[in-house]
Amino acid sequence: MKGGEMLQGKVAIVTGAAKGMGEAHAREFAKQHAAVVLTDVDTENGTRVAREISSSGGKAIFVAHDVVDEESWINVIGEAERALGCVNVLINNAGILIRKTIESFSLVDFKRLYDVNVGGTFLGCKLIVPSMRRAGGGSIVNVSSVSGIVANMPGMSGYSATKGAIRMLTKAAAVDLWQYRIRVNSIHPGTIRTPLNEDYFSDPEQTRLILGSTIMARPGKCSEVAAALTFLASDGSSYMTGAELVVDGGMIAV
Ligand SMILES: NC(=O)c1ccc[n+]([C@@H]2O[C@H](COP(=O)([O-])OP(=O)(O)OC[C@H]3O[C@@H](n4cnc5c(N)ncnc54)[C@H](O)[C@@H]3O)[C@@H](O)[C@H]2O)c1
Repeated sequence: MKGGEMLQGKVAIVTGAAKGMGEAHAREFAKQHAAVVLTDVDTENGTRVAREISSSGGKAIFVAHDVVDEESWINVIGEAERALGCVNVLINNAGILIRKTIESFSLVDFKRLYDVNVGGTFLGCKLIVPSMRRAGGGSIVNVSSVSGIVANMPGMSGYSATKGAIRMLTKAAAVDLWQYRIRVNSIHPGTIRTPLNEDYFSDPEQTRLILGSTIMARPGKCSEVAAALTFLASDGSSYMTGAELVVDGGMIAV
């Protein structure tokens, strides 16, 4: 497996790693010599991706995981420690998107979005602490979105609320956790083409609306977010905590 050594010696958990950006992050982390624990509710794809990483020379395992469930988190962290050692990187990437304008958004949908996106991130930040303390510190990166900073398209009220909550949860957790040498940052991708938003791109008018305000006028690639995330996970970002890193081709700059 060719790659750098930015994450040499790190044990990293990536949630939602069966596809989309999480898969790209897990693959890049393994290339950068991290031992990676891929987790997801999608066990079939998660197992396949972990197997592919291992067979190309990387170190990876898959553990089935539902981020809304505390017991499931305890199992993932236990499996990670048993197989690979104490965890020093956690990427809270798993997330869902439900797009409906606010008047048609049900409370049931809102609560589900909140449970997965915010509840899952909260549980990860909380439950990883003992393992990271045993590791002597660590880096947590919470995947928010440009929708956690601006509201620039319709139908995003529930999603934006969760991503804004993740942004502030990150800063508050950074305050609490530096005493253990744990850094906590958020990353804010713009429009990245993944299974989550494939429906946007089936409609040219919708695509034009979304990308019209982006300086680079194209969607991002998963690998472009993975590169920024690798930096936040690595010791190269040692003076960053409570920070937000925007990776959006210039979408919210204008
Ligand atoms: N795609 C974009 O344009 C974009 C932009 C900004 C932020 N994001 C965020 O990036 C993250 C990844 O998005 P993506 O586009 O790769 O999505 P995706 O749908 O391609 O992948 C998300 C993964 O999370 C998993 N998942 C969903 N619910 C889960 C749960 N309860 N427990 C464990 N795993 C669960 C899914 O099975 C899937 O494998 C999400 O947090 C998303 O909100 C995406």
